[in-house]
Amino acid sequence: MSNTSKVKVKLPLRIKIISMGNAEVGKSCIIKRYCEKRFVNKYLATIGIDYGVTKVNLKDRDIKVNIFDMAGHHLFYEVRNEFYKDTQGAILVYDVSDRASFTALDDWLQELSNEIGNKTEIDSIVVCVCGNKTDLRRQVDESEGQLWADSHGFHFFETSAMSGEGVNEMFQMLFEGVVRTCDNGGRREPIGTQLGYTKEQIEAIQKLRNAKSDYERLGLTPGASKDDVNRAYRKLAVLLHPDKSVAPGSEDAFKLLVSARTALLKRC
Ligand code: GTP
Ligand code: MG
Repeated sequence: MSNTSKVKVKLPLRIKIISMGNAEVGKSCIIKRYCEKRFVNKYLATIGIDYGVTKVNLKDRDIKVNIFDMAGHHLFYEVRNEFYKDTQGAILVYDVSDRASFTALDDWLQELSNEIGNKTEIDSIVVCVCGNKTDLRRQVDESEGQLWADSHGFHFFETSAMSGEGVNEMFQMLFEGVVRTCDNGGRREPIGTQLGYTKEQIEAIQKLRNAKSDYERLGLTPGASKDDVNRAYRKLAVLLHPDKSVAPGSEDAFKLLVSARTALLKRC
């Protein structure tokens, strides 16, 4: 055989991962926990962007992971916005002890979609939503995070960069998802097709949770009659009765519904 005969070398797959989420939610610490197996207690804000590379082996395949760790503070928007392009996987982090960081998830998705623009490209990104700092006193229930992630077709994990809980599992899922997407010609495989509950149920739970008054909970306005209250109640009860719904948070949402109905009937 001549020296020039070709040897088939399997080049490592290169993938691009970004981190998103409000400042101080723990993005850099989650990445550090995974890459360096340690935790830093002191807050060192990321300035603009931090770049790092790590190697993983998935099913005998070498993967080179380029991680772009973004600064969450809005001051750094002008720096981070150019790094969204060509993203294949993202960790979208909130802090379970800080509700504002959870409500900000929608803004982060909006930023991602504004910067990437192309819907097909956005839909091909594998996203792991992380409810971080589970070691602290929480303001956001696990089921709320799960529901938000499910409603967008994203993976969901609760993590603690401090204890390490959930971090390896989350990255494993992310990398596997991105590799599968690459093997699938850049199309993300749908997840959650067998959730067993509907978007309508998810929306009803979120609406009940976020409503500011009992009227709003039932989708009514002050002055509604007894019939209006009962009709609105029945419509939601069919969706959310714990015997019928397996969506996370159904039970609590159903309790909210029952107490809203009771309170409103007293006013009719
Ligand atoms: P920016 O770079 O400003 O966007 O913030 P970040 O999201 O990268 O946050 P960072 O990782 O720097 O962590 C912020 C603070 O939260 C630090 O003081 C960390 O020690 C702390 N922290 C991060 N993860 C955890 C956690 O799981 N539990 C606890 N208790 N603290 C954490
Ligand atoms: Mg950071």
